Amino acid sequence: MKALILFSSRDGQTREIASYIATSLRNEMECDILNILHIQDLKWEQYDRVLIGASIRYGHFHSAVAKFVKRYLPELQERVTGFFSVNLTARKPEKRSPQTNAYTRKFLLQSPWQPDCCAVFAGALRYPRYGFFDRIMIQLIMRMTGGETDATKEVEYTDWAQVSRFAQDFAHLTSKS
Ligand SMILES: Cc1cc2nc3c(=O)[nH]c(=O)nc-3n(C[C@H](O)[C@H](O)[C@H](O)COP(=O)(O)O)c2cc1C
Repeated sequence: MKALILFSSRDGQTREIASYIATSLRNEMECDILNILHIQDLKWEQYDRVLIGASIRYGHFHSAVAKFVKRYLPELQERVTGFFSVNLTARKPEKRSPQTNAYTRKFLLQSPWQPDCCAVFAGALRYPRYGFFDRIMIQLIMRMTGGETDATKEVEYTDWAQVSRFAQDFAHLTSKS
């Protein structure tokens, strides 16, 4: 069994989560991890599982995610698949499920691809790494939503135990023949 793990990441947190999942799965299956922006010729016949992870920036996933889904819909539908989204809204536990996380719910409602399993993970807030405009905008959003506003701080909200549980759920999905 071999899995393809694709990620769309701007600041690296989704890439880290993808790597963590691959490491968690090392006893169950081999995994290739690829940036969805750098996909060229995919050797689909190698993979029987596909996992896509994507982060949110200003309310949206990168357009490459929807484009990938549209282009490779038949290949996705033939395989066991999973999806995870990463955002800061999910730092609040009540906004950390596919049904309660607005970005993820909307994606699933609009997507022609319906993954076999789906999760929402809290991302990271790394003020010192942001440019001026992004720092001010994120501070504003955090002020409005009761989050961290100290621009000297880096906070990782990701619940790694939740990520491990999701990796196991993905590994134990029944294979499609
Ligand atoms: C410029 C910018 C805009 C963001 N916009 C949102 C947003 O609209 N909603 C949200 O929940 N999180 C938002 N985030 C938080 C990111 O989703 C979070 O930092 C995540 O960990 C980023 O993952 P990545 O490093 O893989 O890109 C934003 C972060 C940045 C830097």
